[in-house]
Amino acid sequence: MRLTLSRALHSQGFGARRACEGLVLHGRVRIGQRVCEDPFEEVDTQGLILEVEGQAWPFHARALLMLNKPAGYECSTRPRHHPSVLSLLPAPLRVRGVQPVGRLDEDTTGLLLITDDGPLIHRLTSPKWHVPKIYEVRTRHPVDAQVAQRLCEGVVLDDDPLPVRAAACEATGSHALRLTLTEGRYHQVKRMVAAVGNRVEALHRSAVGALTLPEDLQPGQWRWLDAEAQPWQPRTGTP
Ligand code: URA
Repeated sequence: MRLTLSRALHSQGFGARRACEGLVLHGRVRIGQRVCEDPFEEVDTQGLILEVEGQAWPFHARALLMLNKPAGYECSTRPRHHPSVLSLLPAPLRVRGVQPVGRLDEDTTGLLLITDDGPLIHRLTSPKWHVPKIYEVRTRHPVDAQVAQRLCEGVVLDDDPLPVRAAACEATGSHALRLTLTEGRYHQVKRMVAAVGNRVEALHRSAVGALTLPEDLQPGQWRWLDAEAQPWQPRTGTP
């Protein structure tokens, strides 16, 4: 795709068109080693890496990224008690209107996808698509294979007489479960674990669809995902 430089900057969240023109005219934008002077020069966005005020910024037509959510952050764009996860991202991403894909509780950690692609948010959160999400759960009381089996067979939550089931569940330790859900009800893991007489002490999401949280992505860090990434694709292995 070919765009004028100011339009390319605007699309990436560097501000209003006029502000983007100003960035170029003030010599704040480079491509490679070259300081750009003309806001209306045409650039090829394929593989384009802008450098804006010293910060390298790879062009992404769609913003799609993964964040290792730390505890103490809310997924809401209008947080009430804790900072928003969006405050962990650079300003241009917030300006272009990225949103978390679904919600993790304030005290839940792990893989959170963030995007400005509305249809993708719908596809990943709609119950129709059954995108699996894997949670590592630390429990207050001991767990075993029977507990895991009960969660797979289904438990009744307080807001619906129909049982909800884990798509998969295994005890991974004396106080640890790995639970796969394909729907995303309010506090679902905590309520399911409570329904079997236990309590969640810590909750971490390790995978969504085909994506697994990379081991080297530290809490609070984020990473771009490829333009071709299709997180709803089935998983090909276990994390
Ligand atoms: N289930 C929960 O109870 N909390 C989360 O954050 C995610 C799933």
